[in-house]
Amino acid sequence: MLHVMVAAVVSGMLAVMGTVSLGLIGGDDEEVELAPYMSRAQGFSQKLGFAIEARNQPLANFYLHEIEETFEEVAHEVPEHNGVPIAQYISELITPVFEPFEKALEAKDWGAVRENYVALINRCNSCHTKSEYEFIEILPASGKPPYNQKF
Ligand code: HEC
Repeated sequence: MLHVMVAAVVSGMLAVMGTVSLGLIGGDDEEVELAPYMSRAQGFSQKLGFAIEARNQPLANFYLHEIEETFEEVAHEVPEHNGVPIAQYISELITPVFEPFEKALEAKDWGAVRENYVALINRCNSCHTKSEYEFIEILPASGKPPYNQKF
């Protein structure tokens, strides 16, 4: 009888602890979501690819800056996500990409621009792998643009 009561009390306590920690995790996630930022970065990175394919320098420049701003915002708003140091990975993987990319675009060196574009997409995937989201694999834009927009 005593054993049963102790077991019931212990399992009750565990249930409460479980609820509390789940509640905290849920609370963190609800504060700032990472996925909508990623979705935005994905859209910009695809449009960037089509703008490069069309050799549209001002448009490519615009989307490159939008990507840069998006990741600056992510680093500020979601510095950590489920124990993954997002801000640190951004500064290691993504931030160094922009300067050579911008220079190549400015010079309209389209070969170098294309290389920088592929490098950027690779960095997206490197971070997904480091964050254990390797199943989210981004590809360079290809095929016909799916947007109702001129590139
Ligand atoms: C600092 C690390 C990091 C970088 C850099 C990064 N991602 Fe992510 N990405 C993540 C994490 C972590 C998730 C999972 C988010 C979640 O659990 O809500 C994710 C999720 C996603 C998703 C799934 C959400 C959706 O809307 O389908 C897409 C798409 C995505 N990233 C695209 C990109 C693209 C494109 C880039 C590069 C331009 C990029 N990511 C760069 C860490 C990163």
